[in-house]
Amino acid sequence: MRITENKIDEIRNAADIVDIVGGYVQLRKRGKNFIGLCPFHQEKTPSFTVSDDKQIYHCFGCGNGGNVFKFLMEFKNISFVESVEEIAAHLGIKIQTEESTGDQQNELEVFYDINVIAARFFLEHLTKSAEAEEAREYLKHRKIKPQTQRSFGIGFAPFGWDNFLNHAKQNKIDLVKAKQLGLIDTNERGEYYDKFRARIIFPIFSPNGRVIAFGGRVLQNADNVAKYLNSPESQIYFKRKSLYGLYHSKDEIRKLDRAILVEGYMDLVSLYQAGVKNVVASSGTSLTDEQIQLLSRFTKNIFVLFDSDSAGQKAALRSIELLLKQNFEVKVITLPKGEDPDSFINKFGKEQFDEEVTSAVNFLEYQTSQFELQGMFEDPAEMTKAIRELVRTLALVNDELKRNLLMKTISKKFNLREKLIESELNAALLQNKTKVETQASKQFFRSEESAAESKLTLPVVHVNQNPNEKELLRLLFSGDEKIIGYIFDNVAVESFVNTNYMKLAELVHDGWNEEKFSPADLVEKIESPELKNFVMKLSLNDEAISKKWDDLAFNGKVEKDTFEHAVETVRSFQIFQIEDEIKRNNKIISESKDELLHIELLQRNRELQDDRKAMLNLKANN
Ligand code: CTP
Ligand code: MN
Repeated sequence: MRITENKIDEIRNAADIVDIVGGYVQLRKRGKNFIGLCPFHQEKTPSFTVSDDKQIYHCFGCGNGGNVFKFLMEFKNISFVESVEEIAAHLGIKIQTEESTGDQQNELEVFYDINVIAARFFLEHLTKSAEAEEAREYLKHRKIKPQTQRSFGIGFAPFGWDNFLNHAKQNKIDLVKAKQLGLIDTNERGEYYDKFRARIIFPIFSPNGRVIAFGGRVLQNADNVAKYLNSPESQIYFKRKSLYGLYHSKDEIRKLDRAILVEGYMDLVSLYQAGVKNVVASSGTSLTDEQIQLLSRFTKNIFVLFDSDSAGQKAALRSIELLLKQNFEVKVITLPKGEDPDSFINKFGKEQFDEEVTSAVNFLEYQTSQFELQGMFEDPAEMTKAIRELVRTLALVNDELKRNLLMKTISKKFNLREKLIESELNAALLQNKTKVETQASKQFFRSEESAAESKLTLPVVHVNQNPNEKELLRLLFSGDEKIIGYIFDNVAVESFVNTNYMKLAELVHDGWNEEKFSPADLVEKIESPELKNFVMKLSLNDEAISKKWDDLAFNGKVEKDTFEHAVETVRSFQIFQIEDEIKRNNKIISESKDELLHIELLQRNRELQDDRKAMLNLKANN
């Protein structure tokens, strides 16, 4: 049996965790939370906490925690579905189950079958119907050969509103399911109609070759229609986890041990047709961690080949970061202005394309050239910023040897600034290593030692951790959307110095962008138990968890977080950032003999002083 997402949300929203947990554990109020003896481990003093406003529970003793469903799963040792059912029953909410055909796999098969029928329908229409002449002409004009069309299952969705619908009815397809797959939809009168109309259809395959979704392209570009229409997420299609073309290219990717990443359907198909078969496409969306993980099963070497427009270049930079973090070897191919992979290969052929691949640059050279284009190297202050940015990317590379080689590349490129680069790198690395809480100091000294051991040229300057980071993070997990919005408007996720904090902030940021946002769900997504514990402490507002827990009872602060408080915190954060940069610059100035660098940094400091003054004024006026 399957319970729909909406239903689950409805049940979660209606459920009261204090009520449910209270049915099994004796709870009493303490501050704004409830505490009790943990049912998951033996204890004499309560460290099991339930938060009413966050609808989560957490035990500081054993680390068990989560939302109301998780509690029942753990407590009764039952499945997720069972826990949802139980709570629904408790609340008197009816769960209508979609008529089931047995186990879940069987049910998914129904979806796959529908997609196969649809794919065949589109394909047959493209090849056989007189109406599809325009589509055939279009593909011919785009130089996609019939054989390529067949191997990618390319088809054409007919003109009109009910062609597929009628076909579906004839084939006794479950229309509710076809709607869930995004093949049909209903109008205001509840009547079904075809979603894909007059579009070239690209079936999207799973890595195992099952049709999981479709992309449909209009025959003529127009401002008022989306060029591509894509299937929505469904029981069998998870956008974040699928890569277009992987089914076709995976063998070649494995064989060559490298992949080329492009943006579009057409790019992939054209390259493949031309014999460049180790390609995958992110299909427009920016690359996700899950897609990278999927790809890493086949290779760890990637050539990023995005459109030369500014959106493409931005997407490229972001993808590179994610790839580096997952230890990919990243190179970037840049095509001449105005070309995308599809147009390039059709115009210049495979040989020239291979040359472009051969002359691909590593990600640092690429980033440098991007900054150069933006004119960042003409202005000293901007240049410092650019170098800092480059080094930040460099610090994502885990392999030390490789990192050092790359550092030399930058050094060479910027000649005078070798020392600056080295020290910046050390600072960035140190940042990456700094760990949360108690580990922080130990870790800090350790990395400082190792930096000293390797006898790198000084000055070593570190970015100091901003004392307001933790409070900002706490506010981010407080769940007030206005506050979260304000923080993200003013503080970049990357500016958290502590990498663990940064990770957590990013988590909120990503979650916040989604439609349904709840702190409880976010906490569930934190994989590391220590981080989870840390966030729970933070957001349950209990700094002083100790054996004296009981003594502290009822003394918890119950202050509500005001928006003004968030504004204040952000401001303090920014002032600290400025002051820290000034300090770092002064340190470099005092320890380096590079006069040009002195001038740059002094000027930068003057700007920073101005900013600081302005901020302090704002603060005073509050
Ligand atoms: N895309 C999308 N929806 C849009 C536009 C684009 O999903 N409205 C995705 C598609 O996967 C597309 C990719 O982003 O393939 C790249 O978009 P774009 O460069 O605009 O299209 P091309 O792939 O170059 O398509 P074509 O050459 O047919 O114009
Ligand atoms: Mn194109």
